[in-house]
Amino acid sequence: MKRKNSPILVIDSGVGGLSILYELAIKNPKNDYIYFADYNAAPFGQKSATYIRKRLIENIRLLDKKYHPQGVVIACNTATAVGVSVVRRVFCDKFIVGTEPAIMPAIRAGKKNILVLATPNTIKHSKILSIAAEDTSSNITFLSLPNLASLIEDNIDDLALLRSIIRAYIAPYIHKTDAVVLGCTHYIYIRPILKSLFTSDVSIYDGNAGVAQQTIKKATRGGEGRIDVITNMPSKGVNLVCAWDILLNKGV
Ligand code: DGL
Repeated sequence: MKRKNSPILVIDSGVGGLSILYELAIKNPKNDYIYFADYNAAPFGQKSATYIRKRLIENIRLLDKKYHPQGVVIACNTATAVGVSVVRRVFCDKFIVGTEPAIMPAIRAGKKNILVLATPNTIKHSKILSIAAEDTSSNITFLSLPNLASLIEDNIDDLALLRSIIRAYIAPYIHKTDAVVLGCTHYIYIRPILKSLFTSDVSIYDGNAGVAQQTIKKATRGGEGRIDVITNMPSKGVNLVCAWDILLNKGV
């Protein structure tokens, strides 16, 4: 059942999608938001497509019963790549906005050497990435980073540790890249590290502003400006608090 002023549901496997929630709350503060982190299924990066789709449907169904959201933002590139079409089919009474790696803006900006950082599942299943791969004007490198989302999740406040791990991952690409696409919402938190590793002329793209814009266009305005953050693994609540504090006070 859709109610007037009903909240917008934003979902991810952990802290990644909070960066989209933050963008939404800044641009559209009057709406109400429910954020759900599916830590029981995290990380999504290497799980089977069938499992991720099942989780998405079950979680949305459960949250729908309780909160009756007007729409859902899949604030996760992996879950979008694997499951957005099935979610749209099952929940056809709601708007569904997905998150995709912002590779098109990089191509349109004429970037020649584009490095896409994403989870294995996003690289395998993302439609936008397979379309972009056919573009002959750019040289696109897809770097799949199996454990990076979990590393960020568990060490979000330890930039020194993350920096040393990330430097090793991207060392071969540092001097061969003029644009980096953050194809996972968890990677938003390492933007300051990437900025410090690449030279200042390397642009870093993410899809958050686009997702917020699309959501705002589809949403019915109004609410009390409430934000509720929930998870199925309370012990991970501290990660969510820490990430929100970074978004509010330090910026990414
Ligand atoms: N934040 C996610 C994404 O954008 C999920 C990462 C994961 O759970 O592996 O892909």
